[in-house]
Amino acid sequence: MSKIKDKALAEDGRRALGWASENMPILASIRERFEEEKPLTGLSLGVAMHVEQKTGVLLQTLQSGGADVSVSSCNPLTTDDAVAAALSEEMDVFAWSGQTNKEYYSCLESVLRSAPNITVDDGGDLIFLLHSKYPAMLNEVIGGCEETTTGVIRLKAMSGEGELKVPVIAVNNAYSKYLFDNRYGTGQSVIDAIASATNMLIAGKTVVVVGYGWVGRGIAMRLRGMGARVVVVETAASLNQQGQSGYHRGLEALYDGNWVMSMEEAAPIGDIFITATGNKHVISKHHYKEMKENVILANAGHFNNEIDVESLQEMSKNSKEIMPNLVRYRLKNGKSVMLLSEGRLVNLARPTGHGHPIEIMDGSFAVQGLCVEYLAKSGKELESQIYDVPSELDEEVARLALDSQGIFLQKPTPQQVEYATTWEEGT
Ligand SMILES: NC(=O)c1ccc[n+]([C@@H]2O[C@H](COP(=O)([O-])OP(=O)(O)OC[C@H]3O[C@@H](n4cnc5c(N)ncnc54)[C@H](O)[C@@H]3O)[C@@H](O)[C@H]2O)c1
Repeated sequence: MSKIKDKALAEDGRRALGWASENMPILASIRERFEEEKPLTGLSLGVAMHVEQKTGVLLQTLQSGGADVSVSSCNPLTTDDAVAAALSEEMDVFAWSGQTNKEYYSCLESVLRSAPNITVDDGGDLIFLLHSKYPAMLNEVIGGCEETTTGVIRLKAMSGEGELKVPVIAVNNAYSKYLFDNRYGTGQSVIDAIASATNMLIAGKTVVVVGYGWVGRGIAMRLRGMGARVVVVETAASLNQQGQSGYHRGLEALYDGNWVMSMEEAAPIGDIFITATGNKHVISKHHYKEMKENVILANAGHFNNEIDVESLQEMSKNSKEIMPNLVRYRLKNGKSVMLLSEGRLVNLARPTGHGHPIEIMDGSFAVQGLCVEYLAKSGKELESQIYDVPSELDEEVARLALDSQGIFLQKPTPQQVEYATTWEEGT
């Protein structure tokens, strides 16, 4: 039995789902095959993802494969209530925008009542809840899929302590996911969200991007193209999951044409600050004091702890929402700082964040859909550990994406295939 904001919004939701589905050709081809082969028959899927139009098309695709789908959001602010209403006519939905933390967790629990055989997470909350509160239910779980960097980091920590009890596929770690989603998707959608919430010009602004991983690189690349002066802040440590040091990332940022410096140096010169680290309090108390008047702070990382909002509140005389999702904090030292979307994922927090462009999520969710199918087929043979996306699935998604645009790559000759694997010097 679904729990959503307003059933009457379903017509709008159906329109949004229809538009997304028209522009998701990769999922459409997977759906066609799923309808025929029904690879998920008899399975219950528990999903915690941002409930919006593109996710809706993924959920419909999974359901067309024969699964029973039950979904909640993975963030209290990001549900599109119209899409939730439309989806609730086809599956169990427990999601609405503007949830309290308590409501959010009660929705995750509602999903778990469907006794999922496969979990699909974006950030890991569902699978963590299963492990921490309902360990007995894990017996019925074949495995899980994780959509984002932060979720994979948490799972790795869990696995390292021997606490992970089911196999999980790190969908986030697919090469096509990084490319489609973290880099190009976030690169566009974060800037869209900031522009839509503030209606301000990007050109000529000094924009500080904290973290030069896949997400930070995408954002910085697009900002440079729009005429911003981009400053990158990286860390003097190895804090990303690919094991590359912040020094490599910092040097790459420099060679890409950004200014590179520490947060202490960047704080007094930035006009807009965007965090994308997957780490905690990367903008904090001592930085706010140094900032210019009316700077804008936005977070693109998964959790709302990248910007230290608590300290901002403590340091402020008062705060006021001046536009939807834009709050001005008046600091006790007389300066003002503006925070977007309460420091939550700026590109997903409604009403000003609409998530990644549809075509991007077509690729990302195609990886997700194929991984769910893979778990259904082979999950029982896997160990309780974190797996990368099988490379043939990863490649298949890139191929389908190109095919869908009528782009076909040059076929190698047999001699070229042989040459690529020989150790002899060619003549
Ligand atoms: N907004 C979105 O739609 C979206 C999409 C994908 C991923 N994400 C999230 O964005 C975050 C980053 O993802 P990614 O794929 O770029 O990860 P990544 O690991 O590739 O990059 C993170 C970067 O931040 C740097 N870093 C860590 N701590 C730092 C600090 N204190 N100061 C400066 N730099 C620091 C790391 O060295 C690394 O280069 C994660 O939380 C991820 O879940 C968001």
